[in-house]
Amino acid sequence: FMVDKGNYRHYMAKEIHEQPEVVGRTLAHYLDLAEGVVRLPFDLNCDVKKLSRVTISACGTAYYAGLVARYWLERFARLSVEIDIASEFRYRDPPLPEDGLMIVVSQSGETADTLAALRYAKEHGQHILSIVNVETSTIARESDTVAKTLAGPEIGVASTKAFTCQLAVFACLALALGRARGVLTKERERELVTELIAAPGQMAEALNREAAIEPVARDVARASSVLYLGRGPCFPLAMEGALKLKELSYIHAEGYAAGELKHGPIALIDYAMPVIVLAPPDASLEKTVSNLQEVAARGGHLILIGSPRAREAAAAELAGFVEIPETVAGPFASLVYAVPAQLLAYHVATFMGKDVDQPRNLAKSVTVE
Ligand code: G6P
Repeated sequence: FMVDKGNYRHYMAKEIHEQPEVVGRTLAHYLDLAEGVVRLPFDLNCDVKKLSRVTISACGTAYYAGLVARYWLERFARLSVEIDIASEFRYRDPPLPEDGLMIVVSQSGETADTLAALRYAKEHGQHILSIVNVETSTIARESDTVAKTLAGPEIGVASTKAFTCQLAVFACLALALGRARGVLTKERERELVTELIAAPGQMAEALNREAAIEPVARDVARASSVLYLGRGPCFPLAMEGALKLKELSYIHAEGYAAGELKHGPIALIDYAMPVIVLAPPDASLEKTVSNLQEVAARGGHLILIGSPRAREAAAAELAGFVEIPETVAGPFASLVYAVPAQLLAYHVATFMGKDVDQPRNLAKSVTVE
């Protein structure tokens, strides 16, 4: 079918704004909404009780979705997770468990490195589950099980809605595995599903804060380097936020685990380099805030994307604040925090007059290794 920009200036803007809808649609595909439980539309065809670990491989943004999923798979299904970028994974010649589960993640389903990782895992007896947006793709065809993201066609070269849909699928998968492995009770599953179902509405709220992101974007657009910090599931998001900035605005950006700041990047802190801190109100908030204060104490240029409580706890002078409601909490907050990270990169790049839909040197799907 026809894909157009609708009322948006760019495909990317349209795709960012479509997220509440497509994430909702993806969740509906994997959940029994009436019952409030997960219902996978496929059989995993492997003994999930016997699984001790899963392997994940992907490239770029899809890899970051896998990194977020690691937190969920460990926590909800008590599975250990081996994850690597596809271009490294394949050539490490990694040992894989007998009858193991391999999850590959790809929007296009055509990324050459990811396909090579899939084939390697298949040769080593793994059951292949792919999370793909294009059901007719090579990766989908070569998989034992296909979990589709219902993002619809993604035209913008930098992935946005495919990413959050990948997260939605992973969240459902982690809960289903947790339930099947006897880690989660039905009540706990219901509670977590309720939290997950709230995500699309919260994403819509985050999109409503777009006007507050514009002045922050103008400020970031002056920088030559940016540091992004997060903890837990927001650590991969910090890397994703940094990747989006690099891809779209060509500003050098790095995503770091907030706790790792003191082991190196703290040396970079000065008045000019924006340090963007992702701080949802979770168990690690206090720790993240203390990292933020380490930046403040060195005269750093702080931008907080967080809840009002994080703002208050920070008690520091901020160059920018993007408020995300206090209710965006818990293990799936990262789904919602993806939105301000995408919007920020989008606005920085458009202020700088960059072509956000077709960034230089990048391809939507990379079919060479
Ligand atoms: C390219 C795109 C990225 C994408 C990556 C993986 O580099 O520019 O946005 O994340 O490929 O693509 P895939 O289709 O495998 O998800």
